[in-house]
Amino acid sequence: MFGFYKPKQTLSTALQLNRFQFAHRAYVRQLDWCAKDSAEKKSHKKWRTVESKKDTVNPNIPNKFGIIAAASNNYVIGLDGQLPWRIKEDVDYFKEITANKVLVLGRISFEESSNQAHLQHCRHIVVVSKTMTAAAAAANAGHNVHVTKSFDEALQLAHTLTADSKNNHDHSTIDCWIGGGQLLFEQALLHPSAFEVHLTKVNVDINELAYKHLAKFPAEYRWDYRFKKVSSWPGSGLGTCKLTGKSNLEYSFNVYECFRPR
Ligand SMILES: NC(=O)c1ccc[n+]([C@@H]2O[C@H](COP(=O)([O-])OP(=O)(O)OC[C@H]3O[C@@H](n4cnc5c(N)ncnc54)[C@H](OP(=O)(O)O)[C@@H]3O)[C@@H](O)[C@H]2O)c1
Repeated sequence: MFGFYKPKQTLSTALQLNRFQFAHRAYVRQLDWCAKDSAEKKSHKKWRTVESKKDTVNPNIPNKFGIIAAASNNYVIGLDGQLPWRIKEDVDYFKEITANKVLVLGRISFEESSNQAHLQHCRHIVVVSKTMTAAAAAANAGHNVHVTKSFDEALQLAHTLTADSKNNHDHSTIDCWIGGGQLLFEQALLHPSAFEVHLTKVNVDINELAYKHLAKFPAEYRWDYRFKKVSSWPGSGLGTCKLTGKSNLEYSFNVYECFRPR
């Protein structure tokens, strides 16, 4: 008899029940979220507590490398295969950071800069390309140039090339730098061994629609959840940007370090 019994539900009771179920589900979701959040907070506690202490920021990344770039306000790094500006202070900074180190470049960036003297200060140059031969690369740049077919292969080679200088187990310095362009920066910023980003921010806005071949640095929101700015200082403002007709460019040097492992 009771099997046939269905309590009569008025419309308002049904709505109330629905509302209750909805609220209950939302509450359960919130609980889940809180639990997840606190678990996440716990697991990252180590990293959060070291944020303020520069010398303890996640130093144990194996085969760590750095990334060095200069980008406009809208993250443009290259136009039609060239740098959009001339900033001597930035070139000097690049040389200082990469002097006697291994520099990894994409084929296009290498072709752009290989004839210029500003690569001669590097100990080794590793070009990533599926089309360039080692002979062509050497003919372009001469000394200590290597060609690899993938980004991972380039990192592996860089590690081998620097292994001899690491035999005293000194892992504090970064011996391998990624110098561009866009394709290389994109791969590098996602890589678990990326440790430092040196980004010169140039205060110009480049009209992206006016150029056919535009290279960009990934916007900060895509990578700053892993990196934290540890220092920043203004440049002296002696650069020029022919495209915008700007001289006395404003720019700043910014250093970010990885504080959260991938
Ligand atoms: N402002 C800065 O800091 C800065 C620094 C450097 C460069 N730039 C600018 O960036 C622009 C060049 O950037 P881009 O993105 O066009 O070119 P790019 O990254 O320099 O080179 C791209 C080429 O590298 C090779 N490559 C990249 N990833 C590869 C992979 N995983 N496996 C195999 N080969 C790979 C490919 O060569 P193949 O086609 O031969 O296979 C690809 O066509 C230029 O305008 C330059 O001025 C700016």
